[in-house]
Amino acid sequence: MKLILKVISGPLKGETFSFKEYKKISIGRSAKCYFSFPDDPKISRVHCLIELLPPSNVFVKDMGSRNGTYYAPSAVENEKLSFKKFDEKNLASGDFLRVGKTIVRVYFKGVKEADFNSKKETFSSWDKFKILGKIGEGNIGTVHLAEDQSSQKQVALKIAYPRVAPREEQIKSFLQKVKLCSELNHPNLVKYQNGGYCKEGYFYIPMEYIEGESLNSYLKKQSSPLSLTESKNIIEQILGGLEYLHYNRVIHRDLKSANVLLVKKNNKICVKLTDFGVAKKYENEGFSGLTLSADSMKEMDYLSPEELSDTENVTEQVDIYSIGVLIYNMLTLKGIYKENNKSMSLKIIAEEPVPIRERNAAIPERLGQIIMKCLQKEPKGRPQSVKVLKDYLLDELDEVVLL
Ligand SMILES: Nc1ncnc2c1ncn2[C@@H]1O[C@H](COP(=O)(O)OP(=O)(O)O)[C@@H](O)[C@H]1O
Ligand SMILES: [Mg+2]
Repeated sequence: MKLILKVISGPLKGETFSFKEYKKISIGRSAKCYFSFPDDPKISRVHCLIELLPPSNVFVKDMGSRNGTYYAPSAVENEKLSFKKFDEKNLASGDFLRVGKTIVRVYFKGVKEADFNSKKETFSSWDKFKILGKIGEGNIGTVHLAEDQSSQKQVALKIAYPRVAPREEQIKSFLQKVKLCSELNHPNLVKYQNGGYCKEGYFYIPMEYIEGESLNSYLKKQSSPLSLTESKNIIEQILGGLEYLHYNRVIHRDLKSANVLLVKKNNKICVKLTDFGVAKKYENEGFSGLTLSADSMKEMDYLSPEELSDTENVTEQVDIYSIGVLIYNMLTLKGIYKENNKSMSLKIIAEEPVPIRERNAAIPERLGQIIMKCLQKEPKGRPQSVKVLKDYLLDELDEVVLL
């Protein structure tokens, strides 16, 4: 079964999207929706859900939206469409669906890809990869476990659907950045393959599949802060990967515990950083403003003040700030700010973090000072490079760990 959604009006007018297998497609203003229309006030946060059920059912359900979900039966050209509101419904091929300003036409019987010549690349990435299952979901898209058909190796396939239809030069610029990152090789970095943009309208980046867990989920399982010995092992490797990135003039820009993957090898934890260089690039090209949406902001204390105010001109200092947050998290199992109902962006810009030794008195004074120095609001107040930070931090940790 193949479902084709052809957008007749609204921000994505002129685009066609095709789907091959069972799928749930949510439409709403929320960044978490499959099709996200944050600028259409007539659309509710999660407005409706399209469910594609092979062999021939397309089921649409309104999710309690404020302004309703409408459909109009297949019409001959130029005939005026008459839309009716509905709660849930099986659509027929050729029907129109209206949500806010967007109208799509739904085709699923006897359609051939050739009927909808797309101006984008003509190959389908899904021929190159066999999707084996979903691993998880993040701010810019999903990660699937997939098999690279040419090498028969497993990869983690990062797939992102752009919120707006990208222009040719934006696609080029994003893929150039992915290519640059795919040329990097370091034991503490997830290896990227070259990415692409496929006619279905997705960006995808095949990455080395890491069988392990993220530092985020590891920390959630702990009942007390990590020991200095364990922290030292993790910190040393994060700094190693980061030093190499900066040496190659790549700023990570999304260094958070969900992007620090841990693999156990011979009883030792090995660290692999992921998502370097690309997530913010994706955002800056205007494909997504997701990491700054109100929902995801709650957990965004790793963003530096300048990352919020001047996203164009950030330097390596943003990563030094984020590392400070990461180390703070490991040694306290807490965020850097007091818990209150102030918005995270306000805290980041104007609130001082809680001194780390108030949260964990066992942290040696000098070590605490170095961590708090990374969290300075002014980039100039932080350690000036990863190399400098590494020297300070590892000297200090060596001393206390050996005691
Ligand atoms: N290369 C990888 N190998 C294995 N799992 C991965 C890989 N990259 C990401 N993941 C997992 O997929 C999930 C979603 O990742 P992602 O989309 O980057 O979201 P985020 O980093 O915002 O949490 C995460 O839980 C992460 O642990
Ligand atoms: Mg990630």
